[in-house]
Amino acid sequence: MHALTFHRKHQIHYESIADPKILFPADAIVKVKACAICGSDLHVYHENEKGIDTGTAMGHEFAGEVVDIGKDVRIHRKGDVVMSPFTTSCGQCYYCRIGLTCRCIHNQLYGWVENGNGLHGGQAEYVRVPLADSTLMKIPEGISLKEGLLLGDILSTGFFCAQQAEIKPTGVYAVIGCGPVGLMTIIGARESGAEKIYAIDSVPARLAMAAKFGAMTIDGSTSSAREIIHDATEDRGADGIMEAVGSRAAVRLAMDLVRPGGIISSVGVCTDQHLAFSPTEAYNKNLTYKIGRCPARAMMEKLVPLVQRQQYDLTSVFSHALKLSEGVEGYDMFANKRDNCLKVLLLPD
Ligand SMILES: NC(=O)c1ccc[n+]([C@@H]2O[C@H](COP(=O)([O-])OP(=O)(O)OC[C@H]3O[C@@H](n4cnc5c(N)ncnc54)[C@H](O)[C@@H]3O)[C@@H](O)[C@H]2O)c1
Ligand SMILES: [Zn+2]
Ligand SMILES: [Zn+2]
Repeated sequence: MHALTFHRKHQIHYESIADPKILFPADAIVKVKACAICGSDLHVYHENEKGIDTGTAMGHEFAGEVVDIGKDVRIHRKGDVVMSPFTTSCGQCYYCRIGLTCRCIHNQLYGWVENGNGLHGGQAEYVRVPLADSTLMKIPEGISLKEGLLLGDILSTGFFCAQQAEIKPTGVYAVIGCGPVGLMTIIGARESGAEKIYAIDSVPARLAMAAKFGAMTIDGSTSSAREIIHDATEDRGADGIMEAVGSRAAVRLAMDLVRPGGIISSVGVCTDQHLAFSPTEAYNKNLTYKIGRCPARAMMEKLVPLVQRQQYDLTSVFSHALKLSEGVEGYDMFANKRDNCLKVLLLPD
C-alpha cells in the first residue's frame, strides 16, 4: 500500500510500504477513506519530537471502512464505517473507566514507531487498529467521514481544552492560537457557556475564522493582548486561558494573561525542557495549570449530539483537500501556512 512516511526533518515521502496485517485477535484493518494532517504531526516534521523510525507511516486523524477483523473482534464488522481517536484504548483499565482513555495502560499513538515498536499511522491506504472494539466507533447517522475524523482528534481536543478551563458564563476567557485546535476550542468554550472569548494569533486568515466562530480577536503581532485583557477585567487578567499552540512563548503569554486564582488549560504540545514560568510565579498567582493529551475516545462519544446538530460549520477548517499522493506538498503547505492553509484533508487517490 501507499503511505506518507517520515524520513528525516522536513522529509516526508509518499511511498509503498507493507500492507498492515492482523497481528492480534483484537485488531482490525481499516481502509482509510479520509485522513488529515494535525499540528501534532508538525512536531515530528520539524524534528522537535524525535525518536520515530524512518519509514513510519505518519498521521493519527483518519476515518474509513473496516475491511478485516481479528477473531476476538465482536462489535465491529467488515463494511462498518468507523472513526478512531488518535490513541488506542482497551475500555477496561482504570484510566479507561475514569474517562482518561488517552492514558489507557495499553494505549498506542498512531504514527509512532520507535525501534521497531509502535503503531503505523493513518496517512495511508490502510491502518491496523489494535483493541478495535474499544478503540473504534461506528460513525453515527448524520455525521460525515470528515466530521468523524475531526471528532477523533481536534474537535475533542478543543472541547477538552475548554472543559479544563472550568468556564462560567460571567467570566473572561482567552484562547491562545487560532490553528485548527484553537478554533475548535473557541466552539468548546462557547458551548460551555463562555460569553467573552478573546482569541489570539498573528495570522489574519486564522483570526478571521476565530471571529466567525464567535471570538473577539487580537492580533498578537500588532496589539498587546495583555493590555486588552487587563482593560476588560479591571486589571485582573482573564479567568481562564486555553493554550492551543505548544510553544514556550504561548505558555508564557498564558501566564501573563491569567488572573490570580485563574486556570491555564494547555493542550499545545510544548517540546521545551522547562516550564515557561517559575514555581514562585505560579505560587504568587495561585495558579491552576492543567495540561495534557485529550482523552479523545471518551470525548468523542459525548460530542456526537453536537456534531449531529450541525450548528457549526466544523469542516470549514479544511482549507485544502488533496490526494494522499499529494500529501508531501500538503505538509509543506500546512507547515508554512502557504496559500492560507489552515488544515489539509487527504483523500484516497
Ligand atoms: N493535547 C492534545 O491531545 C492535542 C491534540 C491535538 C493537537 N495538539 C496540539 O495542539 C497544538 C495546535 O495544533 P494545531 O493543529 O492547531 O496547530 P497549528 O500549528 O496549525 O496552530 C498553531 C497556531 O498558533 C499560532 N501561534 C504560534 N505562536 C503563537 C503565540 N505565541 N501566540 C499566539 N498564537 C501563536 C500559529 O500562528 C497557529 O495559527 C499543537 O501543539 C498540537 O500538537 C494537542
Ligand atoms: Zn492530532
Ligand atoms: Zn484502558
